[in-house]
Amino acid sequence: MFYLKEISLKDFRCYRTYTEKFIPAINIIVGDNAVGKTSLVEAIYCLGLTRSHKATNDSELIREGNEYTIIKGFFNNEEEDDEIILSISNNGKRINKNNKIEASLSKYLGYFSAIIFCPEDLNLINGAPMSRRKFLDVNIGQINKQYLKYSINYKKILKQRNEVLKHLGENEKFDDRILSILTEALISEAKSIIIEREKFINELNKHLYGKCNYISSESENGKIIYTPNCSADNLKKESENKKILDKITKTTNWGPHRDDFVVTINDREASKFASQGQQKTIALSIKLGLADLIKEKSKKVLVILDDVFGELDVNRQNRVLDLLKFDNQIFITTTTIDNLSEKVLKESKVIHIDKGGEENGR
Ligand SMILES: Nc1ncnc2c1ncn2[C@@H]1O[C@H](COP(=O)(O)OP(=O)(O)OP(=O)(O)O)[C@@H](O)[C@H]1O
Ligand SMILES: [Mg+2]
Repeated sequence: MFYLKEISLKDFRCYRTYTEKFIPAINIIVGDNAVGKTSLVEAIYCLGLTRSHKATNDSELIREGNEYTIIKGFFNNEEEDDEIILSISNNGKRINKNNKIEASLSKYLGYFSAIIFCPEDLNLINGAPMSRRKFLDVNIGQINKQYLKYSINYKKILKQRNEVLKHLGENEKFDDRILSILTEALISEAKSIIIEREKFINELNKHLYGKCNYISSESENGKIIYTPNCSADNLKKESENKKILDKITKTTNWGPHRDDFVVTINDREASKFASQGQQKTIALSIKLGLADLIKEKSKKVLVILDDVFGELDVNRQNRVLDLLKFDNQIFITTTTIDNLSEKVLKESKVIHIDKGGEENGR
């Protein structure tokens, strides 16, 4: 079984240096508020995805007053061990795998997949569209390398196109020629992105249906409805319709960088009609569905439950774990183990984190 055996941190978030060993089953990270529980699981997530699930900027990960941070993980991979080192400085980041620098981060991505359940998941229901696009990009990217390429190309071309729009000059004919070349290129990548997002959401819906139903004792049906800014077939027409607007606003007003999706429960928009408990249930169901989907494509999956598990009653805890336990290593953070089920505790390693736990070098 693939699992993280040990992690070492240097100047990551609140940690100066820190090392911890994990078991292939459930690892429960327990401690008071602000001792570094989320930071620890964030570091695990970063090892897989080369980026944080919550930081908007990599430099947030570096311990205040320092130049760089290093996360080192030892993984058990089919009887062998792999050593992965992610180093992040203000100038960039790189991955070392078994003492060799990876040519690019996107080449490394996919070594393992990680799914994190966290309080921010509620943003999937009622956050800004940007958080839903990030959800699509990160998770489609985990299972589909081609999507990563489309996405990188799209961003690059979009940036160039916006630059041209910003600096439209005297030579209108010349600018128009460049603009139409970039528009063609952008449409081609946009088409692929929209098609892949459509496919992913369709697949996710298949998994989501059962999860939501199961957790809510068959009273709720959840669904994700993709609302692309422009459909794949309509891109050319839309680019022409918006050409003048683009020139006036000096930016690209159409395309998947403006996409969104809507989550519904029993066909009503969850952000408007669902109770807080229902919103939490549907957000959790989306992630459980995602775990299934990713598991279909990748054998190496780590599951992280940051601050969401202790909130469930014992019955729901057992149900959620039943849904997640398909040969995965699991990390759970919580402020107290008092409300965790006996069954869960029996299968777990409990790791206590204290503020200023000097014995661990913090
Ligand atoms: N770059 C950084 N440098 C130094 N300290 C940081 C940095 N980023 C975050 N911290 C601090 O790290 C501490 C631990 O944060 P973390 O979110 O890991 O706590 P937590 O144990 O998950 O708490 P909670 O139970 O409230 O969720 C916080 O005090 C936070 O302010
Ligand atoms: Mg936390």
